[in-house]
Amino acid sequence: MGDKALTYARIIATGSALPERVVTNADLEKIVDTSDEWIRSRTGIRERRIAADGETTGDLGYRAAIAALEAADVKASEIDLIILGTTTPDIIFPSTACLIQHRLGANGCAAFDINAACSGFVYALGVADKFIRSGQSKKVLVIGAETLTRMVDWNERETCVLFGDGAGAVVLEASEEPGILATCLHADGGFKELLYNPVGVSAGFTDEPNHGVRIHMSGREVFKVAVKTLDSLVGETLAAAGMEESEVDWLIPHQANLRIIEATAKRLKMSMERVIVTVDRHANTSSGSVPLALDEAVRSGRVKRGQNLLLEAFGGGFTWASALLKY
Ligand code: ACO
Repeated sequence: MGDKALTYARIIATGSALPERVVTNADLEKIVDTSDEWIRSRTGIRERRIAADGETTGDLGYRAAIAALEAADVKASEIDLIILGTTTPDIIFPSTACLIQHRLGANGCAAFDINAACSGFVYALGVADKFIRSGQSKKVLVIGAETLTRMVDWNERETCVLFGDGAGAVVLEASEEPGILATCLHADGGFKELLYNPVGVSAGFTDEPNHGVRIHMSGREVFKVAVKTLDSLVGETLAAAGMEESEVDWLIPHQANLRIIEATAKRLKMSMERVIVTVDRHANTSSGSVPLALDEAVRSGRVKRGQNLLLEAFGGGFTWASALLKY
């Protein structure tokens, strides 16, 4: 199969896309009984982007993919695998990865979606790494894209203030230079009741608004498990890569809540100056959040070639995943 020297999956470029419409905490104060102060102090969120009517996960993912391909100077026809992390696909099938593949003109390569809720992008990165390491793929497009606000009940203040829409993407290439050093993927379906959507094609829909599609979340319990789980995930990932906390240059975490991010930074003995934070402007974009934060960090010049990045995410399932890589 593959050339033995081409061992690593290396990120050669990143891209991202956000909807135009900005919704601030003050805007939400007009819809539900909440306040800018409550949202900021509990979550760190100031505003979020919301997809326009008709603007889909696939539209955002496509734009992010184009930005990453342009930055990589790679043609869509060179891509031999597309993996998309999403919980909010455009339609049930074909997969959103297939829809994007056709729009890009990358027809013929393997393309599929991964549903791991907020961990979707990091899961996709872990799977792509295995395809490259095995010699099966040489150039892979990995996307995280969501329109989670389509699942939000705008009357429920406990959840509607938390989410936003967006997408990010990376182009991975087989390389002799170190790239992804370790990935850790986990799930525990026993936690389903703490964070889930109760309806679907097979289970059926209801007569409630939005056919019963909405996010059920026990916020306080999710928070506690997330902090504890990410704490042990960090240790596991460092051990898998044979690295110390002090060798990690940047933490690029899932952007659900600033307090969860701060707890993980503390576990890594990292000051917040070395943590990429976008939750204030994007809120929780689920699978979109890690690649959005990564792209912002790369394009702003903070993340530089040769630095070690720790990516991590936690979400519905529960699922949790990490990737430690040399950029
Ligand atoms: N505005 C004002 N008050 C509110 C709001 C709001 N938007 N939402 C809840 N409250 C009230 C509650 O009713 C409660 O009132 P009470 O004390 O009178 O009962 C009070 O605020 C405190 O509520 P808590 O739930 O204890 O608040 P907490 O500090 O835990 O913050 C939050 C809630 C932000 C949801 C937090 O628990 C959290 O971030 N949880 C984790 C979310 C997460 O990480 N999700 C995973 C990814 S999502 C995915 O995978 C799809």
